[in-house]
Amino acid sequence: MAQPCKQTSVESNTLLAISTNGQIKELNVRTLTEEELEKLKNDRVLVSEFKQQKLEKEAQKNWDLFYKRNTTNFFKDRHWTTREFEELKACREFESQKLVLLEAGCGVGNCIFPLLEEDLNIFVYACDFSPRAVEFVKQNPLYSTERCLAFQCDLTKDDLQANIPTASVDVITLIFVLSAIHPDKMQQALENLCKVLRPGGVVLFRDYGLYDHAMLRFKSGNKLGENFYVRQDGTRSFFFSREDLASLFEKAGFQTVVNEYVLRETVNKKEGLCVPRVFLQSKFRKPPN
Ligand SMILES: C[S@@+](CC[C@H](N)C(=O)[O-])C[C@H]1O[C@@H](n2cnc3c(N)ncnc32)[C@H](O)[C@@H]1O
Repeated sequence: MAQPCKQTSVESNTLLAISTNGQIKELNVRTLTEEELEKLKNDRVLVSEFKQQKLEKEAQKNWDLFYKRNTTNFFKDRHWTTREFEELKACREFESQKLVLLEAGCGVGNCIFPLLEEDLNIFVYACDFSPRAVEFVKQNPLYSTERCLAFQCDLTKDDLQANIPTASVDVITLIFVLSAIHPDKMQQALENLCKVLRPGGVVLFRDYGLYDHAMLRFKSGNKLGENFYVRQDGTRSFFFSREDLASLFEKAGFQTVVNEYVLRETVNKKEGLCVPRVFLQSKFRKPPN
């Protein structure tokens, strides 16, 4: 878990580790310390079925309240989108081609506005199931109906084709969203995305990886199921292994192109501690016709 900065390094059974932009990319899951293993092993009590059903029923309300409390101030703009997802450029068949992008679970637009600002030649669909988040997107000075269409939608049940023509999107970004969806409904959400993606189009995915610090920090009483936890505010978070993620996408009709853990250490300046972060960064393709 957290350690003084000077001593710590991210431990793993190295199969492949490439350092790029200060990140370590890994195919193996992070190795836990004895203490961490013990903690996870002892955390066996699950939240009651009654409370779990309530959380599912109130998922939208809980995210909407999250944005009521935090407005646009919680997540930082994700400027890494263009830097790390160079694929956006590679997705064009010719340089001046206008890309059509869908940011699924856009929150208040921390991913899309940096992209639009860098003046890429893109049209962005953005959807989220928090009406308040969608409203924040629409109020952003960079929002323009010529370049964006934001709408409210529950990815697990509202057909995206109601707002987006079938098979018309070149790239879908799914950034820390699938983890917020109940594991039983993840596949439905992916199938929904698949319908609006053009054959050969890609999903760029980034989300919590197995044994991320956030997973190990949950106290007992917050566990909903295997690798699935609830936060104090009622929002939920799943932690993915590469294998589970690939299998989910493949069952929904995608091919795996890239699927790797990104290991990072972030510094808690106040306490002088380094914490190991684990994310999954992946790319899935809808098979060409
Ligand atoms: C951690 S936030 C990430 C927001 C944004 N992608 C970003 O990176 O800043 C997760 C988002 O997923 C949205 N979300 C959760 N479940 C959803 C669902 N079933 N359908 C659509 N959006 C959902 C939440 O409302 C929330 O805005």
